[in-house]
Amino acid sequence: METPLATFQRTVADAIQRAFSLPRDESTADMAPCAQEEFGHYQCNSALRLSKLLKKNPRQVAEQIISHLDDATKSRCSKIEIAGPGFINFTLTPRHLSFELNHQLNDPRLGAMKPLKKQKIVVEFSSPNIAKELHVGHIRSTIIGDCLARLFEFLGHDVLRLNHIGDWGTQFGMLITYMREVAPEVLKGHEKTDLSTLMGWYRAAKKKFDEDPEFKKRAQRQVVELQSGNAEAMHAWKLICDVSRRGFQDIYDLLDTKTTERGESFYNPYLAEVVTEFDKKGLITISDGAKCIFLEGYANREGEPLPLMIQKADGGFNYDTTDLAALRHRIFVEKADRLIYVVDAGQSLHFQMVFAAGEKIGWYDSSKLKVEHVPFGLVLGADGKKFKTRSGETEKLIDLLTGAVDKAREILIERLPTASVEEIEELAKVIGIDAVKYSDLSTHRIKDYTFSYDRMLKFEGNTAVFLLYAYVRINGIKRKTHANMDHVLAQHQIDLNHPTEVTLGLHLRRFGEILEYFSRDLLPNRLCEYLYELAEKFNGFFRDCRVEGTQEEGSRLVLCELTARIMRQGLEILGLETVERL
Ligand code: ARG
Repeated sequence: METPLATFQRTVADAIQRAFSLPRDESTADMAPCAQEEFGHYQCNSALRLSKLLKKNPRQVAEQIISHLDDATKSRCSKIEIAGPGFINFTLTPRHLSFELNHQLNDPRLGAMKPLKKQKIVVEFSSPNIAKELHVGHIRSTIIGDCLARLFEFLGHDVLRLNHIGDWGTQFGMLITYMREVAPEVLKGHEKTDLSTLMGWYRAAKKKFDEDPEFKKRAQRQVVELQSGNAEAMHAWKLICDVSRRGFQDIYDLLDTKTTERGESFYNPYLAEVVTEFDKKGLITISDGAKCIFLEGYANREGEPLPLMIQKADGGFNYDTTDLAALRHRIFVEKADRLIYVVDAGQSLHFQMVFAAGEKIGWYDSSKLKVEHVPFGLVLGADGKKFKTRSGETEKLIDLLTGAVDKAREILIERLPTASVEEIEELAKVIGIDAVKYSDLSTHRIKDYTFSYDRMLKFEGNTAVFLLYAYVRINGIKRKTHANMDHVLAQHQIDLNHPTEVTLGLHLRRFGEILEYFSRDLLPNRLCEYLYELAEKFNGFFRDCRVEGTQEEGSRLVLCELTARIMRQGLEILGLETVERL
C-alpha cells in the first residue's frame, strides 16, 4: 500500500499541475513529515520554490494549490493550513488514519511500499582476511551489511549477500613457509588448529619475513608456486582457508547472519583480462615499470597525480586489480541494479578510484547505476583509542560477542531472581547479541563510537533492552486481558480517538516511509530512532489509555497488535531477535 507521504506527493503534484497548468512532475510536490505534530502531520514546501518560478507571492501560491486539491484529499484531512511564508500543513482525520491502519495490519509488508521495480542488489559486507588481522571493523561491517541486506529482502528485492574474503595474496607465501617449519603436521592435515593459533603464526611469519632475508626469499618463491597452481601449495592454502572459515562461521552463527563467500581468489582468473581491457582502451600509463590508471581529480599530499596501480612492475596484481575485476563481474555477470560495499571509511579513496576507473572505461554510468561505498567509523575503546581486546591483539573477536552475553547474564540473574537457568541462558544470548548490534546500528554510521557493555545493556534510553522491554509489555497487555487475539482481530478494528492514540497511529503509518528513506541513505540509525520513538509513543498511549475492561478494549487491542507487529518487523530488519517475556 502507498505511504501517506507518497499519497500526498501524488495528489499535491496533481493539484500543482491543475493550478498552474504546469507539466506533471512529481518532484514539484515537495512533501515532508511535519517536525511537530501540533502543526500538522505532513507539510508541503512547494509554494516557496514555485513562487519564484511563477513570480507570485508564496502564500498566494499555497492558496491556489489548496483550492486545486481533489475532494478525496480534502476529506482525508481535518485541517489544511497555510503557515509562515507559505508552508501548507495537512492534518489527517483520526477516521482516515484508523481506516489505513486497519489495512496496514493485514498488509504482509506492514505498510511498506512495493518497489516499482524489483532490483538485483549486491550487498558486499564482512570481508575479513584469512589468517590476517580480524578486527572489530569487520564485525561492524557484518552487522551493518546484514541489516541492509535484510532491509532490501524485506522490501522485496533480489539480494546477493557477498563476502569478499581476503583469501589471496602474498601473506600465504609467508604463512605456508612458516608453518612448514613449525607445524608441518597441520599442513599435512594430520593435526588440527584454530583461527587464533593461525593468526599467531601469521604474526610470527611476518616478523621473520621482515627480519630474515633467506626466509623472505623462500616465502616469495612460495607465492609464485601458489600462483602457478602448484598442488602442494594449493593444498596448504585450502587448509588455511578452511581453518579461518570455521572461525568466521562461529561469529556469523552468533550474529545470525548469512553470507555467500566469494573471496578475492574468485577473481584471480579475470585479473589479466581486466588489465588487458584497460590497456586496449589506452587507459594505462607505465610508471616505474608498473601499469597505472591516472584519473582526473586524484592527487597525493604533495599534489602529484595519484594513480590506481593495477599491475606491479614484477607482473603481480593487487587489491585494486581485484576490485576492478569484482566490479566488472557484479555489473556484467550478476547484472546488478545496485552495488553496495560496506567497508570502513578508511578505504573511501580506494573505492572512489576503483569506481571512477570503472566508469572511465565505460562499464557503467553513475547516473544510471548506483555503485556505493557505504563507509562507517571506528569502534573506540574506553580510552578513546581504536578498540583492542584485552590482550592488545585483535584475535578472538568472538570474545567481544560472548562477553556481551556474559554481561547480560549477570544483569538478568540479578533482575529476574525467580527465572530458571535455562530461561536466563536463552534471554542472555538474545539480549547480549541484540545489545551489541543495536549499539552499533543506532549510532550514525559514519561516526566513531565507543564500545561499552554497560551502556549498551542499559534498560533505559535508546537501547536494545528498552525496545525489547516495550515489545514484551505490548504482549503483556494482550495476555492480561485474556483475550483470544484471533477473535479480537476478527471482530474489532482500530478506531482512534484519544490524542495519544492518534499520535501512536500516525507513527505506525510512517513505517513504510522510514524504510523508504532508509533504503536511500542507508543509515540504520533512522530505523533505530523510529523504533525508539515507537516505544515511547506506545508508552504514552499505555499511560493515557486504559485497555482492559473498557469500551475501547477491542480497538485498542488491535492497535497493540499492530504496534507489536511493526516493532517485531523493525527489529528483525535490524537483525535483532525478540523475546516474549522479560
Ligand atoms: N579484506 C579487506 C580488509 O579487511 C576488506 C575488503 C573490502 N572489500 C573490497 N571489495 N575491497 O581490509
